Amino acid sequence: MARMPAPDPCILVIFGASGDLTGRKLIPALYDLSKTGGAHGQLPERFAVIGVSRTAMSDDEFRGKMRESARKHAASYDDASWNAFVPKVHYQVGDAAKIDCYPGLMKRIEDVDRTLRVAREGCAPNLLLYLSVAPQLYEPIIAAVGESGLVTEGKRWCSINPAETAWQRIIIEKPFGEDLHSARSLNRALGRVFEEEAIYRIDHYLGKELVQNILVLRFANSIFEPVWNRQHIDHIQLTAAETLGVGSRAGTFYDGAGALRDMIQSHLLQVMALVAIEPPSVFEAAPSMREKIKLFDSARVTAAARVARNGVFGRYGRGAGPEGRVEPAYTEEKGVDPARKTETYAAIRLEIDNWRWEGVPFYLRSGKKLSKKLTEVVVQFRRPPTNLFRRNGRGGGAGDGGGLPGNRLVINIAPREGLELSVLGKVPGQGLKFEEAHLSLDYLERFGGEQVDAYGPLLLDAMRGDRTLFKHRDEVEGGWRIVQPFLENRDLRDSIEEYAPGSWGPRGADELLARDGRAWHNP
Ligand code: BG6
Repeated sequence: MARMPAPDPCILVIFGASGDLTGRKLIPALYDLSKTGGAHGQLPERFAVIGVSRTAMSDDEFRGKMRESARKHAASYDDASWNAFVPKVHYQVGDAAKIDCYPGLMKRIEDVDRTLRVAREGCAPNLLLYLSVAPQLYEPIIAAVGESGLVTEGKRWCSINPAETAWQRIIIEKPFGEDLHSARSLNRALGRVFEEEAIYRIDHYLGKELVQNILVLRFANSIFEPVWNRQHIDHIQLTAAETLGVGSRAGTFYDGAGALRDMIQSHLLQVMALVAIEPPSVFEAAPSMREKIKLFDSARVTAAARVARNGVFGRYGRGAGPEGRVEPAYTEEKGVDPARKTETYAAIRLEIDNWRWEGVPFYLRSGKKLSKKLTEVVVQFRRPPTNLFRRNGRGGGAGDGGGLPGNRLVINIAPREGLELSVLGKVPGQGLKFEEAHLSLDYLERFGGEQVDAYGPLLLDAMRGDRTLFKHRDEVEGGWRIVQPFLENRDLRDSIEEYAPGSWGPRGADELLARDGRAWHNP
């Protein structure tokens, strides 16, 4: 087994500590990592967290709240390991978008460092900053951090051996901008303070096991890559379906975002990139990022005239939710402005203009309140070139495989992690009766272990300076370039359809594929 380098000792400063993500994901993930044994127990020994936000709270009050969160959201909770972890957790009140927050914060960092001895003798502690605040605060906070003098690494990068000096890195949450223009502006703001190598644009989908496994499947096996191209693949589908509605996030976030921004621009395009990139020279950050950037650059930007044909928007109607109770339509959720026509479902058809993928459509869809919680990639192979069995009453004529189906490889990313290859087999007995059968691999069943929330491993990667599972600025901008024509098209938005909760989305999405003679894989 490959040994991972140990994460560096550091102080993690979470901006937005009283927010939802800190309690639901970050602290539970850190607590899980602090436990010994199993998939956990990998947090550096010399480590501390300082939560920063505007709500006045003592360390003890913050710790009390975080304990409740860990109880609810950690993989497993027990008092003894929480008590061992909690001295590392601190809280500092302040408005991080204002420069006068920083003298106090810097003093706090010094104090915590002195008590917990995070840094090496005579050295400042490594700092990992986490932006978990409302997106409109990103740029003001980054500017204030720059002005405060907290970040020194970039300025010394060329002259001093980086291994001997403290580092400062920043993790930045999605949404990374709300369109191409704002993403560029945010990238520039980051670039004024941090080196690109110190910026960790997080996408929790890249922390999912099966997403990483896509590259292992493609490049650690020899049978897939020779057929992974336009000669053998008919089309590819990427689905991220959820059963829950938008709920209380509707007014505060979702109505200004929608499914295309929230899921497709970020998560699904990253999954698509891993399915479609050329082999990187090695599995490391820079070579992998270079291939993803190339891929996004090769994706055809959909012409305005084709947008309404290649995209579908939907929003869920009123109806029974997953627990059987009648729930409101999206337009009736608190804080929603129906006239904005925000989509809770989006499907788009993309093409990639390169030698490998010319003519192979990629269909991406994501929606709330659909039939199943499911994230999967479907690689649909072409039909056999001819039908050898045509005189035995199977299929049609000889052309186009005589109606025999092509093989299908399904990569299940969530909730079940696995692979399933469909093959046509002969049913035992007289005559030639064909049926589809599945070769399947369930990762947890086969390899054991436990399902680990994506945040923990990604935090550790940032602490060890490994950006392989994070996004480069050009990837983010490339992603926005791809979705921008769909975002700004009035016809597409005006034709938004209502769909029934618990269904597979609007009818238009079926028609999108039917026009190409294809259908969604709706398990
Ligand atoms: C988040 C989106 O990034 O991903 C949410 O903002 C969505 O709207 C969530 O529900 C889905 O993540 P997962 O890991 O449950 O598929």
